[in-house]
Amino acid sequence: MKQTMTRSARCDIRTEVRKAICRQAKKLEQSGRIDITKTFSQHGDCSVFEHCANVAYVSCMLFRQMGIEADWDELIRGSLLHDYFLYDWHNRKTCHPAHAVYHPTLALHNAKRDYQLTVKEEDIILHHMFPLTVLPPKSKEAWMVCLADKLCAMTETFGKVWVRK
Ligand SMILES: [Fe+2]
Ligand SMILES: [Fe+2]
Repeated sequence: MKQTMTRSARCDIRTEVRKAICRQAKKLEQSGRIDITKTFSQHGDCSVFEHCANVAYVSCMLFRQMGIEADWDELIRGSLLHDYFLYDWHNRKTCHPAHAVYHPTLALHNAKRDYQLTVKEEDIILHHMFPLTVLPPKSKEAWMVCLADKLCAMTETFGKVWVRK
């Protein structure tokens, strides 16, 4: 028999995912420079931090929808740090000339300087721009962030933001 999820069950999952993202964000705020990402714009009126939180949210929800298990802690931390390049990419003076291709490497460099990362978190950060970058993601979590990043870039441009900070 086909089971349909009730509206309250869907709300519970959304709340659970948002809480998990806030928990991980708070931990990252305590030791690194993630607060700076709240001051840089990403797409539309969405900050880099909000974009990263959106990517975490969409990645988690897609795994839930598909019924595929994933490591949420690594998925969320990797998502929150995937654009940890720490400059305003809209400003020609501060932006790297090859930003689109280069920023995953820089984000990983910055994140490794400020945090202790797992292999999977490194994979998520380094390969999220595939196929623009040559090497593809290795883990299912990194593949999902790679997909969610593109979905969020499009929806944020049209004003949709799932996680506000
Ligand atoms: Fe990116
Ligand atoms: Fe991104």
